Amino acid sequence: MKRGSFARSDSRRGRRAQAGGPLRSGPRRTKGRAPTGSLAGLLAAAAAWGVVACGPSGQDGAGTDPLVKRGRAVYAANCTACHAHDPCRDGNLGPAIAGSSRELLEARVLHGTYPPGYAPKRDTKAMIPLPHLEGEIDALAAYLGAADCSG
Ligand code: HEC
Repeated sequence: MKRGSFARSDSRRGRRAQAGGPLRSGPRRTKGRAPTGSLAGLLAAAAAWGVVACGPSGQDGAGTDPLVKRGRAVYAANCTACHAHDPCRDGNLGPAIAGSSRELLEARVLHGTYPPGYAPKRDTKAMIPLPHLEGEIDALAAYLGAADCSG
């Protein structure tokens, strides 16, 4: 009889061990996580690209002019840390600058100054000159000049 009761308890333990078995297959699911992660990365990249590709309002009809397109990319890469993505709006630090003249852009971006007689929108001096953009002033002027702030 004693043997029999040992045997029973042994078999109960055995069942418990087996019951734990299927639960351990859980970690295999991590295999499915990799594609999910890279998909999220793709979506994030697509979203980031969308911001650059669609420009400020998407209504400037500028998609066809390569100089405007270039200016949009230069603006997105160099100016939107402070100015708004939509140049018609005030940014974190910098004011709205849609419609800025080439003369103003050259003075402000390359030299940190203003054209003679120009009344600045802000009397702060927070903007650092970005002289490496010397070759991009035309593109910036084309882009900011094409921005349609009516909407
Ligand atoms: C470090 C932040 C910062 C960056 C980067 C920056 N700006 Fe500015 N910008 C400002 C601030 C702040 C002002 C307001 C005047 C000041 O404090 O210098 C300003 C003013 C201006 C003005 C004068 C607006 C007016 O009519 O008075 C223009 C034009 C301008 N920025 C163009 C640009 C362009 C184009 C770029 C990118 C090539 C750029 N800024 C990058 C912060 C920035």
